[in-house]
Amino acid sequence: MIDWETHLPTLEALKDEGKIGIIGVTAMVYEAYPVIVELMKAGRIDAMQIPYNVIERGCEAEILPAAEELGVGILVMEPLKKGRYVKELKSEPDLAPLAELGIETWAQALLAWVLSDSRLSSAIPATSRPERIHENAKAGSIGPLPPELRDHVRQETERLL
Ligand SMILES: NC(=O)c1ccc[n+]([C@@H]2O[C@H](COP(=O)([O-])OP(=O)(O)OC[C@H]3O[C@@H](n4cnc5c(N)ncnc54)[C@H](OP(=O)(O)O)[C@@H]3O)[C@@H](O)[C@H]2O)c1
Repeated sequence: MIDWETHLPTLEALKDEGKIGIIGVTAMVYEAYPVIVELMKAGRIDAMQIPYNVIERGCEAEILPAAEELGVGILVMEPLKKGRYVKELKSEPDLAPLAELGIETWAQALLAWVLSDSRLSSAIPATSRPERIHENAKAGSIGPLPPELRDHVRQETERLL
């Protein structure tokens, strides 16, 4: 959202010429959200990349309802809070209630928590370890967590931070 008043008309011209397909924005601060909602309502953006995870839920109030209503795609960045919610917990989280869904690791639990919201299009966890790509991708086939298990993942994260 840096200097969007300059860049957006350029992108819109490229889209009109067929040189780009969709226009997306990204914002790290909640203060930018009202402007983004207005841009969504004006039909000027097609997708948004946004930080969203079990603790950082500032997009739930305005952005996600508007995106759902207006058909704007939402790509989730930092679903593991840059790895903090996996690597910096005080002890091992309780995975037992999640086992019957096929969740084997806490990263999968956190990603399944994010992907449980149908208003999101996708999530993009980053890793430097190739084996974790498969581990993380598996979260995409778990399906939405029931509310009580979503609460469990949130409560465990809060308890162990
Ligand atoms: N548009 C923007 O302004 C913006 C801003 C920030 C981020 N992004 C994008 O968002 C994506 C993700 O962001 P991010 O890297 O900041 O946050 P993230 O995906 O929440 O966290 C990545 C961290 O999680 C760890 N991790 C991943 N899978 C794991 C697993 N299964 N078990 C344990 N640790 C695991 C990684 O460590 P290892 O490497 O050790 O696996 C890495 O340290 C990236 O593609 C990034 O480019 C965009």
